[in-house]
Amino acid sequence: MKSSHHVQLPTAEDVAVAARDWFVEQCQQAIAARGKCIVALSGGSTPKRLYELLSELSEGMIDWPKVHLFWGDERDVPANHSQSNYRMVREALLDRLKAAKPVVYRIPTGQQSVERAAREYELMMREFACGARFQFDVVLLGLGDDAHTASLFPETIALTITDRWVVANQVLKLSTNRVTMTAPVLNSARHVAFLVCGSNKQWAIDKIMGATRNPTLYPAQLIQPEGELWWFTDESLKMP
Ligand code: 6PG
Repeated sequence: MKSSHHVQLPTAEDVAVAARDWFVEQCQQAIAARGKCIVALSGGSTPKRLYELLSELSEGMIDWPKVHLFWGDERDVPANHSQSNYRMVREALLDRLKAAKPVVYRIPTGQQSVERAAREYELMMREFACGARFQFDVVLLGLGDDAHTASLFPETIALTITDRWVVANQVLKLSTNRVTMTAPVLNSARHVAFLVCGSNKQWAIDKIMGATRNPTLYPAQLIQPEGELWWFTDESLKMP
């Protein structure tokens, strides 16, 4: 890991604003350097406000057609399902962008098995890379109160897979199946940001940052990017 940064803000709204400014800067730098910005978006509720703020940016702040949006994980539901991470981003960001739109790569859940959706998505990523190394410029992540991130849940098979970029993951405690990116592809990123708000995440923060390394129980410990790791948290959380 090149460097680790922690930005603590008073409220969840402040976290979203700070993450927006950070995201804009990373996108502008990636596009200036390589002509595009490759992003893995987080699902869940925390990043929704960030996505709304990104949709409200003034024209030209982000050259959206040069931004390639992937999802770090997805639930086993169709694109229009209320639980869909794709739908959350479509409503908070994509449908609100007036003119230029990003290039969107949805995880194809809902019409086939999660295993097939995971294989198809990885193929899509490999085709996108055209034989070059696939490397995210920006990865956005949330944190569950059980220390999961993306759909890398405690004591699940996805935590142990290192030869795939995208896998199906059975989450017994939720009685559900997910599609998730694996730690290696997330860790290839130049810039990774966790957005974490709410004192209900304190246990997870303490375990992830604590002395005991046990990614099986605290999966977010797997996130050790090649590039920069950023934490954007609100004041309800004490960072050890
Ligand atoms: C998902 C996310 C998941 C989420 C955390 C935190 O599909 O739900 O990928 O990892 O980021 O569960 O969720 P909240 O932001 O809703 O607390």
